[in-house]
Amino acid sequence: MDDFILGLPKCELHVHLEGTLEPTMAATMAARHGVERAPVTRPPAFEGLADFLAAYYADMAGLRDEADFTELTARYLETARHHGVRYAELFFDPQAHTARGVPFATVVTGIRRAQEAARAQGGPDTELVMCFLRDESVESARATLAESLPYRERGWILGVGLDSDERGNPPEKFAGVFADARAAGYRLTAHCDPRQEHSIAHLWQCVEVIGVDRIDHGTECVADPRLCDELARRRLGLTSCPLSNLRLYGTLMADEIYELMSRGVLVTLNSDDPAYFGGYVADNYEAVASALGLSRKELGALAKSSFEASWLPPERKAAYERAVDEHVHGWRQR
Ligand code: ADE
Ligand code: ZN
Repeated sequence: MDDFILGLPKCELHVHLEGTLEPTMAATMAARHGVERAPVTRPPAFEGLADFLAAYYADMAGLRDEADFTELTARYLETARHHGVRYAELFFDPQAHTARGVPFATVVTGIRRAQEAARAQGGPDTELVMCFLRDESVESARATLAESLPYRERGWILGVGLDSDERGNPPEKFAGVFADARAAGYRLTAHCDPRQEHSIAHLWQCVEVIGVDRIDHGTECVADPRLCDELARRRLGLTSCPLSNLRLYGTLMADEIYELMSRGVLVTLNSDDPAYFGGYVADNYEAVASALGLSRKELGALAKSSFEASWLPPERKAAYERAVDEHVHGWRQR
């Protein structure tokens, strides 16, 4: 791993905590709780999103109590710190746990304990983004939103997102739930995964129907110049995940990422489900850097974009962006 990339201050905006569950931890937790399951093995690649999601949900079976969620989150935060992550907005999927009888409070309290410990021990600083599973019903999303509200009031959850299987589940299915989430003070984001049916229509729905504050993946917009212009005009962040693209669709989509950068779209690099896709965030920077031959200045620009696309207040964004500049300039003078 390139030390410049590892030490580059970064913001991670697209990582699913459940997607950081490494096979050994999944097996240990399942055994601890006496959960019947096949031994976890992860294939080198998946045959698309649905194939990946089947493994992702099956492997969560051992996540049952508060301590499990604390351990999962603490382990990710330790790795993230090593990868130069200074700040992250972390996804979690409450419905994947409440459907198995794990209370919502167990999930958020367990995660929160690790967030607070990391914050007290040198970072990274983190916020939570709760995703609705788009292949579940609108009623289930609505009930999950209602359950989350006490935690919104305490400042434990910053935003809501939309993930899981996109096929037949367009963003507009959740327009009402997102409107209610906005009214409750949440920031909004939604997945528009690569290579999906109706990708462009789903992207436009995110922008024009939901009014999102960010889009997860979203790289397919490159095929629609008018959409690219609109995303660039709004400085709407896209959270691209190169190694996820590689393991699900056989390409990093590095050329698309470069084209979006060139068109002024606020594209960022992230890790998605790093325990499944073979790398954490610095590995994603490195994969794109070597595919495109990026300069340190260009890598610095990508890191600054990651902070700009965050939901931090402007003065905190500016401070992190200065830290990126110092890293880039300091490196040049070594
Ligand atoms: N859940 C976890 N990772 C996801 C992804 N990349 N797309 C949709 N849903 C997900
Ligand atoms: Zn994702």
